[in-house]
Amino acid sequence: KYEGLAMTPSMGWNSWNTFETKIDEQLVKQTADIMVSSGMVAAGYNYIVLDDGWMTRERDGDGNLVPDPEKFPNGMKALVDYVHGKGLKFGLYNCAGTKTCAGYPGTRGYEYQDARLYASFGIDFLKFDWCNTEGINAKEAFTTMSNALKVAGRPILFNICEWGDNQPWNWASPIGNSWRISGDIYPCFDCEYKHPENWSSWGFMKIIEMRKDIRQFSGPDHWNDFDMLEVGNGMTYAEDKSHFTMWALMASPLITGNDLRVMTKETLGILTNKDIISVNQDKLGIQGFKYATEGSIEIWVKPLTDGSWAVTFLNRNEKTQSLNFDWKAHTITDPINKLTADFKGDVYMIKDLWGGKTGGTTQKNLIAQIPGHDTVTLRLTPKSKGK
Ligand code: GLA
Repeated sequence: KYEGLAMTPSMGWNSWNTFETKIDEQLVKQTADIMVSSGMVAAGYNYIVLDDGWMTRERDGDGNLVPDPEKFPNGMKALVDYVHGKGLKFGLYNCAGTKTCAGYPGTRGYEYQDARLYASFGIDFLKFDWCNTEGINAKEAFTTMSNALKVAGRPILFNICEWGDNQPWNWASPIGNSWRISGDIYPCFDCEYKHPENWSSWGFMKIIEMRKDIRQFSGPDHWNDFDMLEVGNGMTYAEDKSHFTMWALMASPLITGNDLRVMTKETLGILTNKDIISVNQDKLGIQGFKYATEGSIEIWVKPLTDGSWAVTFLNRNEKTQSLNFDWKAHTITDPINKLTADFKGDVYMIKDLWGGKTGGTTQKNLIAQIPGHDTVTLRLTPKSKGK
């Protein structure tokens, strides 16, 4: 792969979750403009990614993919230039199979030709999916595309989109900058949504649960990708905050999937929460883990640089739950990275990352009422090394 393109999890926007194949030049330009004017770029977002549906149904006479001239009347290069002109990066989508998931031409057998075309468009990111791949070996197919991008003459981040069946975390690190780990996300807390065509999409906490045991495979430039965000796509404010919080703690790419042109202040506020983003973008790049469960509250933690820790108390229930947490009775250890927060011996200062009560230390119990599906999320910074 082209190394070093995702030393922290990638941040940006992808068209699929809201628009599916109903995409066009105007949508991309408006999205790019808003990404700048809304403060999202300042908060760290920089990729605009067009998912499935950007091509015509057939390759041209030379075997090249063709951007749909109705959706993109000025071609892809001009649009990429526009996005670059805004200081942003541009991504496209295709599939390892014979067709994409939505039935457009897939890349199987055209890997090097497609990579050269992408480089000629000037793209910076490729999401490469896994539909229509019967009889194809996943590791080999993604390796071929990775190699093709590497020699195409442009740094192109390679985002592998295999849904976990072939366990990409075991082999994708040398070839991809990130890889999906599950089937598609659905805008709900922890539901399973069954599509009529007999496949399922998953609420964000379902994805977290499914794949909480593969954290050792994720890190700088080789991330577990928990799928695009559903913030602003129909969940409650509390659920949207919890979703964003968990993606930050999991060190997942933060690729928004909402319509930026109509997002509310609340949605923008969630997506640009700098404290939560800094948990996600932390240089150590450690995927967090569940430390404990107390009643309906799950305690998830993520070790950060400078000996800090992000801690989130997440209410899995729909009813408000009270919390009375005695830090001094806890020592949290990350078994893989061998990092410890010893609240018995050391004092930590507390910052509340969703803007509630700030201040205080771990010397006092944490007392809170946590509404249904909401979180209390803190950054703990060591004050003194005790003893
Ligand atoms: C798959 C992927 C989605 C999206 C669609 C496009 O379902 O997992 O993220 O790219 O294909 O058809």
